[in-house]
Amino acid sequence: MKPTNAPKTYRVKSFGCQMNVYDGERMAEMLATRGIKPAPEGEEADLVVLNTCHIREKAAEKVYSDIGRLQKADGTKPLIAVAGCVAQAEGEEIMARAPAVSMVVGPQAYHRLPEMLDKAVQGERATDTDMPAIAKFAALPERRKIGPAAFLTVQEGCDKFCTYCVVPYTRGAEISRPYSDLVTEARKLVEAGAREITLLGQNVSAWSGEDDRGRRVGLAGLIRDLADIDGLARIRYTTSHPADMDDELIAAHGEIDKLMPFLHLPVQAGSDRVLRAMNRSHTAESYLKLLERFRAARPDLALSGDFIVGFPGETDAEFEETLKLVDEVRYAQAFSFKYSPRPGTPAASMDGQVAKEVMDERLQRLQAALNRDQLAFNEGTVGRTCEVLVERKGKHPGQWLGKTPWLQSAWFEGDYAIGDLVEVDLLEAGPNSLRASVREGALSLA
Ligand code: SAH
Ligand code: SF4
Ligand code: F3S
Repeated sequence: MKPTNAPKTYRVKSFGCQMNVYDGERMAEMLATRGIKPAPEGEEADLVVLNTCHIREKAAEKVYSDIGRLQKADGTKPLIAVAGCVAQAEGEEIMARAPAVSMVVGPQAYHRLPEMLDKAVQGERATDTDMPAIAKFAALPERRKIGPAAFLTVQEGCDKFCTYCVVPYTRGAEISRPYSDLVTEARKLVEAGAREITLLGQNVSAWSGEDDRGRRVGLAGLIRDLADIDGLARIRYTTSHPADMDDELIAAHGEIDKLMPFLHLPVQAGSDRVLRAMNRSHTAESYLKLLERFRAARPDLALSGDFIVGFPGETDAEFEETLKLVDEVRYAQAFSFKYSPRPGTPAASMDGQVAKEVMDERLQRLQAALNRDQLAFNEGTVGRTCEVLVERKGKHPGQWLGKTPWLQSAWFEGDYAIGDLVEVDLLEAGPNSLRASVREGALSLA
């Protein structure tokens, strides 16, 4: 490649899960500390970081069309870095297939992006997909000014090896960041403006560490200590696997006010045979029992899940069991996907791959049920009074959008600022948001 000028502007485009978004924010911070500025809206940057996701085929293929499309106003191509899970899984292939790419950097190596950039400016192409996970966090710059709802990665990687999933390969084995690093980073996030922190991990409830007094603590212990931080109003966590939910975490939902009444606990399917073939280590019944215990600790808990339809070998009757489970749980919200065979995973070579039309039909039916329940959940909260964290301006002047404790979007009018916690009455429910009205004199800045 030809040497180029050092980039003056950057853009980071994140395509994946919340951890991928967190990584994207950290990469942006790193570039900013080098004096590179975010590109103005509508203008292509000198340096574009495509922060990719490998979870389903569509997401993974997108990277190549994006590379093809990138172009600056003068017709030249920007410097392109491919980061994220596609970089990890297909680094060499990207380098071979896409000559316009000068940097490929995996999710555990992006702290080295600045060095790679120096090489790229000199015309050298570089790939770094090493996995020294902990080193990354130590090498990242301080958090800069952030919004009221912040992410904090506490755990990375996955040892569960569900037979359909690429994450154990792209993110590596489960590791927990040290307790003291997390408490320090959480304090800094609050100083930088965060009122709510969502603790992130591919398998966040597997987090464990040693607290200040040398005691072994799990996620519940970490949440308890973070709840002591003044100025932090809300704590959430995601995503969990049913196998790692312990008694303490269940109890924490009933005891810690700052821990929001929301649980994202993927189940994937309702048939025990399919769950076994997925290597999920839980049954439909053990999952439902677990939810009962959470609901007993926190009766207003809002539940969310992930579903896959059309896993290899899934019959009509087995799919019906997924619908039955949905009917029982009544999720407040959920994500559902058609099974996508991923290279190198055991399920990709299983017999009985399901036809696309069958998957389409199943997904439609499942989503109809999930949408029905989401609206019903929202309707069920009408009449409640709750706090809303103001996250952004609404479409109309004087209108604000915020999140309820149950992670619903609520909009209301008045004279507020982003980051305010406002007490509202929930008045009217739609499928995706609620209309609210502010209680007189209800601004809380505590
Ligand atoms: N660690 C989390 C999230 C994993 S990825 C967990 O276990 O819940 C998020 C979701 O993507 C998964 O829960 C699953 O529903 C979906 N998913 C993962 N691999 C997939 C595949 N090959 N095809 C379709 N959906 C998939
Ligand atoms: Fe993937 Fe399963 Fe791990 Fe979740 S628990 S990241 S679905 S392997
Ligand atoms: Fe995608 Fe990687 Fe997240 S594959 S879902 S960006 S862990």
